[in-house]
Amino acid sequence: MEESPRSGRTLEGTRAPSRPGARETFGVAAKVLVPLVATGAVKRRPKAMALAERCQTDRAAIDLLRRLRGEHGPGPLLLSVPKRTIAVLLDHEDVGRLLDGAPDPFTPDTVEKHAALGRFQRHGPLLSRGHDRERRRAFNEAVLDQDRPLHHLAEPLWHKVNDESERLAATVRRSRRLAWADFEPVWARLVRRVVFGDAAADDRGVTALLDALRRDANWAYLKPRNEPARAELAARLLARLGPADPTSLAGPAAGAEPGVHPEDQVAHWLFAYDAAALTLMRTLALLAVHPGPRDRARTELATASGPAELPYLRACVLESLRLWPTTPLLLRDATAATHWGGEALPEGTSFVVYTPLFHRDPERLPYADRFTPQAWLDGSADAEPAMTPFSGGPARCPGRNLVLFTVTTALAALLRRADYRLASDSPLRTGRPEAATLNPFALAFTPVRV
Ligand code: HEM
Repeated sequence: MEESPRSGRTLEGTRAPSRPGARETFGVAAKVLVPLVATGAVKRRPKAMALAERCQTDRAAIDLLRRLRGEHGPGPLLLSVPKRTIAVLLDHEDVGRLLDGAPDPFTPDTVEKHAALGRFQRHGPLLSRGHDRERRRAFNEAVLDQDRPLHHLAEPLWHKVNDESERLAATVRRSRRLAWADFEPVWARLVRRVVFGDAAADDRGVTALLDALRRDANWAYLKPRNEPARAELAARLLARLGPADPTSLAGPAAGAEPGVHPEDQVAHWLFAYDAAALTLMRTLALLAVHPGPRDRARTELATASGPAELPYLRACVLESLRLWPTTPLLLRDATAATHWGGEALPEGTSFVVYTPLFHRDPERLPYADRFTPQAWLDGSADAEPAMTPFSGGPARCPGRNLVLFTVTTALAALLRRADYRLASDSPLRTGRPEAATLNPFALAFTPVRV
């Protein structure tokens, strides 16, 4: 990136933006942005997700953006909205350039995130800039053990995940069914044990308070903030961190330097672990309809005991996130004027990356709509600049390894006890391309003895 003090930064190799007309702008708003807001950007709404699945809203959004890219070229689409410049990226390499430019000149701390996430994590990593961002990011990288496939607490965390999976398996054995309603409370308990330690296992109140604030956050600027509830959540999280159970994330989180606000970092972790629950259910559904990958995962399990990386199962989880990214919109605001394809975009430009477009782009990926765990094993998915279920560049998810370990461990524990067949009316079918929208809340499984 080159800097020119008068005219802003130039991004080498970027393509010239285009300006779609009012009808096309309306189409992008209606087909891409409205469904994401309606289904709940911060806390998913199950009824709206059911409708989105019925209408396959992601398919309509992907098709529209591909058509616009064909008509206008691969440069960003500049949407004309009052008082804002919104640039919707259409090019894979442009996505890589944008994400590599965090936190300057492209900050993840955007106007929209501030309005939404600020309701329950005022000092969260995604809402921080400058030195505050540096120290909060460093704290997250250290506690979450960003770079290690197996977290340094893998052993005690593995026991917690297995205990809770056994609890879930017992319920499933009794009811002969695994559905979201059985799974969600067990997952929330597991997450509290992983984050705070075993003493917090039954603290449903803290999860309920966070969930209420997250439901408010879905409304972003449209609903007044509930400051007393935010302060109560922060106090409860701090109290939970106090005893610093060394077998949980609270252990390494103890002793955070001033200004980090560990309670707000923890609020983000609890929130983010929800995406893992959706991912686990969707991966189980993929394995239910794909016997080949299911057998291969099972063969891998036969060779492993105790905390393990389980590369094949991990690749299945990553595939679920490619097909149904839980953060479908990556947002960045420009902290300075930038030049894209020779055109100056002002400071404050809001950049939008709709990840399903890139994760399922048949013009680039031979496996676009097919379940292909192999893409994560042979390096081809990682080589893609816009393959970003965990974002990319300096603001990529520091919890990636930890959450993949948590989800694969829980899946392994479930699969060791039974196979699961789909018992709900799902759009997934053996031998067919994967549906663009999959509602995880409606998935239900019947366990089958192995
Ligand atoms: C399947 C589960 C998860 C997915 C798909 C996921 C994905 C993401 C994505 C896409 C971002 C970047 C958002 C952006 O660029 O605006 C992000 C950021 C982040 N994630 Fe995750 N995440 C998951 C779970 C977790 C968990 C469990 C933790 C912590 C225990 C975590 C910690 C973080 C943190 C701290 C950030 C902020 C990074 C920064 O601002 O520099 N994530 N995650």
